[in-house]
Amino acid sequence: MSVPSSARPPVTSHVALSMRDVNVFLPTSTGEIQILRDITFDVGRGSVLALAGESGSGKSTAMLAALRLLPSGARITGEVTANGERIDLLDAAGLRRFRASAARVIFQDPWSSLHPMHSLGDQLIESARSADRGLTKAAARSLAEETLQRVGISDPAARMQSYPHQVSGGQLQRVVIAMALVASPSILVCDEPTTALDVTTQEQILDLLRELKETLGLTILIATHDLDVISGLADDLVIMYGGTVVERGPVHDVLERPTHPYTWALLQSSPDHRPGERLRPIEGRPPALDDLPPGCAFAPRCGSAEEICRTTPARLLQIDRGRATACTRVQAQSGISEVEAAA
Ligand SMILES: Nc1ncnc2c1ncn2[C@@H]1O[C@H](COP(=O)(O)OP(=O)(O)OP(=O)(O)O)[C@@H](O)[C@H]1O
Ligand SMILES: [Mg+2]
Repeated sequence: MSVPSSARPPVTSHVALSMRDVNVFLPTSTGEIQILRDITFDVGRGSVLALAGESGSGKSTAMLAALRLLPSGARITGEVTANGERIDLLDAAGLRRFRASAARVIFQDPWSSLHPMHSLGDQLIESARSADRGLTKAAARSLAEETLQRVGISDPAARMQSYPHQVSGGQLQRVVIAMALVASPSILVCDEPTTALDVTTQEQILDLLRELKETLGLTILIATHDLDVISGLADDLVIMYGGTVVERGPVHDVLERPTHPYTWALLQSSPDHRPGERLRPIEGRPPALDDLPPGCAFAPRCGSAEEICRTTPARLLQIDRGRATACTRVQAQSGISEVEAAA
């Protein structure tokens, strides 16, 4: 079978957020190291894209790169487009506007997003007014109360008076989501938003994100370690390994018919994915980003690796409609051998 092999479809108006060949380099005490390599994916407008991979695979860095929130001294190449605007080209004023209103981020730990000494109400009002300078304090207050109600906080007027330490972790994550929503963003970037919460609360927050996607048409980019958590929320899934994308496609296709041996390994190691099956940790360690092997970064841990995998750098190529894989063996079996066409 021969299908077009471009893994870089053009950015259309259906795409809310797009990364094209994004490379990120961070300074360290021993020099600059490359953290991300050729990251390319699109998040469709109103859809949810999940980034999954082991710790250190580059999920958070990819999200920070999408919002241009990388630490100082970081260097980024490639293109990041949000709502048709090249984020990588914005000046300081454009960036402030983008971060205040167009895209908002939610981190794993809700406490890190809130000031301990300010009431929740003050922080919600400040967030609303930073996105819309013309908003009066009274209008911002009623928007904040409405939004707290929307995210499932009962008695919002009373809750506005509370301070972060007076509220449980799950309730606080709802408040952090409300702080994002008062800015009317079209894109929500969530970095493991449930990892710090207990299992029941995790489910509730995921239900809330699902509902926000459906009712507000929000575009969501979410990172997770947990493939089971994501199967009920995401439309598309990107699997990352060693700072690069190894597989990409509609979430159920990737989970049910993974093409990359790393995705297989990740699924096997996921506790609930194959009920009744023994948990199999992925053998070996993730690669050191400053000492990647010459071929596929997963080859040293891959039970199916052949000589070509160890010697030829892997490239993400489209193997089927909406599906892309960086496994050289699978590409060869699918008849994909051409260098991808430029978009
Ligand atoms: N400021 C930094 N300076 C140097 N290296 C960094 C910095 N931030 C991240 N890294 C390195 O970049 C790599 C990717 O880290 P990142 O936090 O993006 O991974 P992750 O997939 O989000 O991991 P986790 O699941 O643990 O959150 C790691 O090897 C990490 O050590
Ligand atoms: Mg992370």
